[in-house]
Amino acid sequence: MYLDSFMIARALHVLGVVMWIGGVSMVTTVLLQAVNEFSRTEDKVAFFEKVERRFAWQARITTLLTGLTGFYMLYFIEGWHLYTRITYWWIHAMTVIWVLFTLMLFVLEPLFLHRWFLQKAQQEPEKTFALIQRMHWILLSISLITVMGAVAGSHGGQFF
Ligand code: HEM
Repeated sequence: MYLDSFMIARALHVLGVVMWIGGVSMVTTVLLQAVNEFSRTEDKVAFFEKVERRFAWQARITTLLTGLTGFYMLYFIEGWHLYTRITYWWIHAMTVIWVLFTLMLFVLEPLFLHRWFLQKAQQEPEKTFALIQRMHWILLSISLITVMGAVAGSHGGQFF
């Protein structure tokens, strides 16, 4: 079977997306629900931190892989002009999600989000976990809509 560099990039891109967005789904729908079962704040924070810290590394690597392969595909098909066409909204959506996660994982989290979380979780645990849960649901929802739009769009279909 013949495999060109575009196909390899596309396969790695989807692999990255599966591990990354799949992980976000697991954290949102399972881990953050399980956190509520602990009654003591220290246990909630310790459990969340243990799992999220390990996932953060996976998410950094898979975000990098997804971004590199995504930009490579755009370069390969000379598709930069797609950013000027609204029918390719899923290209914008992919890029926006990637920028959001990259900012969060590589800049905001190490610089101050982590410290903010530890402090807030001690002061207002219920409110803090509710906010984290809400943010995860929003990010997961827009990521899943984007995945559907990207699969349909890159195979010639359109949702809107
Ligand atoms: C820097 C960010 C990104 C860029 C530049 C990018 C670019 C691309 C390109 C060029 C394609 C192939 C389009 C085609 O075949 O014509 C693609 C496919 C795809 N991308 Fe992205 N992408 C990025 C991030 C993401 C993210 C964050 C997600 C998930 C939320 C995602 C999900 C997908 C999916 C599911 C496909 C369809 C694969 C298929 O069915 O063949 N991408 N992307």
